[in-house]
Amino acid sequence: MDIMEAIRMRRSVRKYLPDEVPAAALGTVLEAARLAPTACNNQPFRIVLVKDAALREKLVPACKGQRFVAQAPVVLVGCALEAEAYPSLAGWMNSFAIDTAIVFDHITLAATSVGLGTCWIGAFDEKAVREVLGIPPNWRVVCLTPLGKPAEQPEARPRKALGELVSEDGW
Ligand SMILES: Cc1cc2nc3c(=O)[nH]c(=O)nc-3n(C[C@H](O)[C@H](O)[C@H](O)COP(=O)(O)O)c2cc1C
Repeated sequence: MDIMEAIRMRRSVRKYLPDEVPAAALGTVLEAARLAPTACNNQPFRIVLVKDAALREKLVPACKGQRFVAQAPVVLVGCALEAEAYPSLAGWMNSFAIDTAIVFDHITLAATSVGLGTCWIGAFDEKAVREVLGIPPNWRVVCLTPLGKPAEQPEARPRKALGELVSEDGW
């Protein structure tokens, strides 16, 4: 699958089959994460793979009751060490959230390319996720995604037209 096909095919998948994620497919997804660019190449992220069923269940209340999070056989939790990230993008912004988001974008697209589904999870309680997985207090939890074989093929969600999103040679 080429990159544009993966971009077009990716969906937020909220129903999963219980089938195990094949090791080769998981390897592809994690390699895509590893190769993601980060500011100054600092690579301030760590991904916690959650396979244990009891732990996945505990993530459901931490993710505002989103049950499908535990339905997939694997959950990936994106964490970042703020102190190791580039401190002042554009003069004002620590890069940790952007770095981790790029990593997860690689993950979602690579997953699509090997027939796996994902869904960005931003609605979660950071403290609760941290407690479930023993994530140290200096590490931020940026996002999660379930990873597994899709049990649904959602329609594409609408997007704005390019004209609303892009301007040329000025605002
Ligand atoms: C930063 C971010 C956080 C999100 N958080 C959630 C979430 O907590 N739960 C959920 O079901 N979907 C979540 N989504 C998925 C969006 O709802 C979804 O990407 C959007 O509706 C477009 O649909 P598509 O991904 O199928 O193209 C999130 C997406 C992003 C980018």
